[in-house]
Amino acid sequence: MNETAWGVIATWRMAHDGVKKASQLLQANGTAGDAVEALIKTVEAYPYYKSVGYGGLPNENGEVEMDAAFMDGDTLAQGAVAGIHEVLHAVSVARALSHDHYNSFLVGQGATQYAQLNGFEMRNMLTDRAKKRWEKRRAELADAKIKPYDGHDTVGAITLAPTGSMAAATSTSGLFMKRPGRVGDSPLSGSGFYVDSDIGGAAATGLGEDIMKGCLSYEIVRRMGEGRTPQEACDEAVYPFIEKLKRRYGKAGEFSLIALDRAGNWGVATNVEFTFSVATASQKPVILMANPGPNQTTTITPVTQAWLDAYEKRIKAPIK
Ligand code: GLY
Repeated sequence: MNETAWGVIATWRMAHDGVKKASQLLQANGTAGDAVEALIKTVEAYPYYKSVGYGGLPNENGEVEMDAAFMDGDTLAQGAVAGIHEVLHAVSVARALSHDHYNSFLVGQGATQYAQLNGFEMRNMLTDRAKKRWEKRRAELADAKIKPYDGHDTVGAITLAPTGSMAAATSTSGLFMKRPGRVGDSPLSGSGFYVDSDIGGAAATGLGEDIMKGCLSYEIVRRMGEGRTPQEACDEAVYPFIEKLKRRYGKAGEFSLIALDRAGNWGVATNVEFTFSVATASQKPVILMANPGPNQTTTITPVTQAWLDAYEKRIKAPIK
């Protein structure tokens, strides 16, 4: 293994500033855990990202309920929270819980209470903008104009430090208009995330209910452990599974997976247009776009400036 290899990959364009921050930390000998936490926190704090942290869209009762996880690839320690409320950085709570052998996955009121008692920053996570969207959606649903469950983009990330240590983390406010108490894949080991510093890591975004059916993050790591490259592992775990779901379950929701191995190689697979951000020892931080390609492969292209401009406009557009 190349001793100076390092890397970071994360889901969606929204992770790019966090990827830049993580890459600076990793190059300055920061740990994989610190880098992945800093990355996720950057996304959680930005009010215009509507599926993660502050500004995340609420459940059907108008409450922002968040899920998050953290995993240390050296020790395999994991911490997670589900249905946590009013905590600015759910990922930091998950990381703190990863230090505990017992009680490392807390849900609902227990998770919120743990955060309060342990000095995590508490905040009303429902921004005016998110509230307006919720009110609008409620009215639309009453008119039966739309499907209730559109749009949910988890931030998931994997980091590799120059020491060879790896970490993974996720954070999401889950499905917009979800039923109170609904939990997605993001805090679930093997589904939303998995990392083993001897092999590599993977993380997921998309419809949690379907990602869970295939334990897709673990499947990708398992395949990398058998010698596949991250791209081969993503393609082999994701595309046949989508076919299987369609055949046996009748449908497959939208989802995308990212992977990074212990040498800093990366891969992605997706059944929908999917942006991601990546940086390695040989690749400056960049936003790329993935699409399903021919014969169960993935097509990866750079994002255009026009796409980035339209994205910026879209996320900040007034809610009418
Ligand atoms: N992947 C996030 C969720 O389903 O909640």
